[in-house]
Amino acid sequence: MNKKFLDLGFQPLANEYLNYYNKKQKKYNLKIFFNTKNKLVSISERMSSKKMFTNNYPYRSSMSKTMKSSFKNLSKTIIKKFNPYLLLEIGSNDGALITNFSKKKVVGIEPCLNLAKITKKKGYTTYNEYWDFNLSKKLRNKFKAFDLIYSANTLTHISNLEDVFKSIDNVLSEKGILIIEDPSLLECIKKNSYDQFYNEHIYLFSALSVRNLLEKFSLEIFDIKNLETHGGSLRYYIKRKENKNFKISSRVNMQIQKELRYGLNKYLTYKKFSKRVQNSKRLLLKILKKLKKNSKIIGYGATAKATTILNYCRIDNNYIDFFVDTTPEKINKFMPGKNIKIIKYNKKVLNKIDYVFLGAWNFKREILKKERKYIKNGGKFITHVPFPKIF
Ligand code: TMP
Repeated sequence: MNKKFLDLGFQPLANEYLNYYNKKQKKYNLKIFFNTKNKLVSISERMSSKKMFTNNYPYRSSMSKTMKSSFKNLSKTIIKKFNPYLLLEIGSNDGALITNFSKKKVVGIEPCLNLAKITKKKGYTTYNEYWDFNLSKKLRNKFKAFDLIYSANTLTHISNLEDVFKSIDNVLSEKGILIIEDPSLLECIKKNSYDQFYNEHIYLFSALSVRNLLEKFSLEIFDIKNLETHGGSLRYYIKRKENKNFKISSRVNMQIQKELRYGLNKYLTYKKFSKRVQNSKRLLLKILKKLKKNSKIIGYGATAKATTILNYCRIDNNYIDFFVDTTPEKINKFMPGKNIKIIKYNKKVLNKIDYVFLGAWNFKREILKKERKYIKNGGKFITHVPFPKIF
């Protein structure tokens, strides 16, 4: 049974950055539910993939050093541990992972044309299509099977999970390995990072819910890695149950126990989280109101996550003058649903700024390193994770 625990109000599509501020930009009520049976956490209103993953999608995996190096390290691990003959990436974005492999050994699936073009241009086989059973049949005819399938921050964006795993099952070889990675529900709840919820994140996975999802397809998790990316993610290593080539690591049970100890299997945990989220909103607004009287505040990292915060807390350009970002697709546009402009990042942009709200708090380490001079000169940051504060 699906039980509601959080209402984040009316939210626009999180990655819909418009060229002008449109007061009437379409918004949808974002409510979050917990399924007491399979332990899945999901959002209420689901947009069609075509609406969200357009031909000018503004998110690029290669925009941060952190993500680039995470993909590079993973490629090395994949080659060393599994040495796949043929790898399939579902949601290959701008090629941050596949470009670390030989062109003959990888196939990318990327529904957003602007991104698919980038890897196609570099000579990588890329299907500019959505992941579904029809596509898996096409791949099966052409390649037979893949011995490694990888997908990061993609499967949680697809509404029909049954179809997702059925399609994977269709093209995964008998001894094949599936690696998926997505933000961790446990980390989200612990860090009060309610901005992990937006229209594209239809689900927020936990080891508990992934285990349940895989059951039907006789797949099982044999290893788990905690990652720092996206504010805390989990990488799940998955195999067919009949494949005895890999032992099940004790890390799997450790993660499940951790989640159970934290109460991720109980509705009450989510209700308590909801209360903390409401407090977080109150405190963030209190801080901004106080500071705004005599200082200049801007936002850093025009993330989809920031869209959730701005629209839930009703923060507009009365509080935040503008956002800075490095992504070409976002520059000179407006934060979704808000009259706050995004300007191109340059080294001098923080001069004369008193406070910087960290929209990309998940890249805190990388950003603080980059902005050493600003900090040295007395510049301050504002974050809402794990609770609103100035630092
Ligand atoms: P994400 O949190 O959804 O991965 O998005 C990160 C956003 O932050 C992306 O738009 C790029 C931006 N960004 C900067 O503008 N400067 C930076 O130094 C970093 C790390 C990210």
